[in-house]
Amino acid sequence: MSLEIESDVPLLALNTFGIDASAWSLVRVRSARDVRQVVDHPQWGRAPKFILGGGSNVLFTGDIRDALVVKMEVQGLRVLEDDAHSTLIEVGAGEPWHGVVTWTLAQGFAGLENLALIPGTAGAAPVQNIGAYGLELSDRLESVDLVDFVTGRSATLPAAHCRFGYRDSIFKRELAGKSAITSIRLRLPKPWAPVAGYADVARWLQREGVDEPSPQAIFDAVCAIRRSKLPDPAQWGNAGSFFKNPVVNRTIRNEILEEHPDIVSYPLDDGTYKLAAAWMIAACGWKGQHLGKAGVHEQQPLVLVNRGGASGAEIMALAHAIQDSVRRKFGLSLETEPVLV
Ligand code: EPU
Repeated sequence: MSLEIESDVPLLALNTFGIDASAWSLVRVRSARDVRQVVDHPQWGRAPKFILGGGSNVLFTGDIRDALVVKMEVQGLRVLEDDAHSTLIEVGAGEPWHGVVTWTLAQGFAGLENLALIPGTAGAAPVQNIGAYGLELSDRLESVDLVDFVTGRSATLPAAHCRFGYRDSIFKRELAGKSAITSIRLRLPKPWAPVAGYADVARWLQREGVDEPSPQAIFDAVCAIRRSKLPDPAQWGNAGSFFKNPVVNRTIRNEILEEHPDIVSYPLDDGTYKLAAAWMIAACGWKGQHLGKAGVHEQQPLVLVNRGGASGAEIMALAHAIQDSVRRKFGLSLETEPVLV
């Protein structure tokens, strides 16, 4: 069956920021074979492509005119291996991530619970190396299947070749726009050990009187914390954290600390420090503020929200104003986290 290339597709329902843009051309792909057909397409094969998953980590700054939007809809969830040491799961790139977490838990396979309620699809998860509450996707990812946009060939990339970093991977850099992730494999180690050190999680478990947390208890903690801090996109359009937490060396951290002794920072394994951007944005007075239809979330100032009918340009105007304030007060540049299109 040949693929249908749709024209003038509204993107409003396809992005969690709730931006009213449109795609001049869009194709839905349900298998690696579909992606190969796109690559072989006489008109669209060579066109630039933008892959759209759940639309939860993207800000549309206007209509997408020059690129073919490839809407990733590859489905499927299956167990490939299950032995005494680990369980290996294969997931279609179009599966909603939170569904993957709940499915594995329901099957009795623990290990993804810290990543509960992260919006978006499984295929987008490696792109920004999703992470929350002490766990990153790279801690569980085994490999990724891709289709190359030039050759149409399929390949499997092991996790060690994905160049994972903090909200970073080869898919955001060298491979950006060059291939489509069609499925991912996750390895869940046994015996399961809780990751419960993140302050918010530890506090929640203590308050609930849980001494030896089960996977379900951690799942419940993470869901409760996220629901209390992060806006529901159904109510307030958003793409999660709009900025990354800056990572600085010890000297810079100490200099900032001298002037701002209360700043929240976390030591990383390599001797650098992650500074809490939420704290800095709040310290600049932006918490709960807005510029027109673009707002700063009250409970988590790292999240910018669409207060209703904002354009991508309005969100960016607020983002630039925040970046200016933080630069002036702390001498640091905040990097944006979602993909800007
Ligand atoms: N903070 C403030 N004021 C606030 C809110 C937070 O000072 O109003 C400080 C607090 O001291 C807190 C610190 O900021 O200890 C960190 O806050 P939080 O635990 O919410 O984490 P975050 O660093 O702001 C990151 C991720 C989130 C992820 C959480 C939990 C990034 C860019 N964001 O936020 O990921 O859910 O940790 O692990 O790394 C996302 O990427 O879209 C996302 C939501």
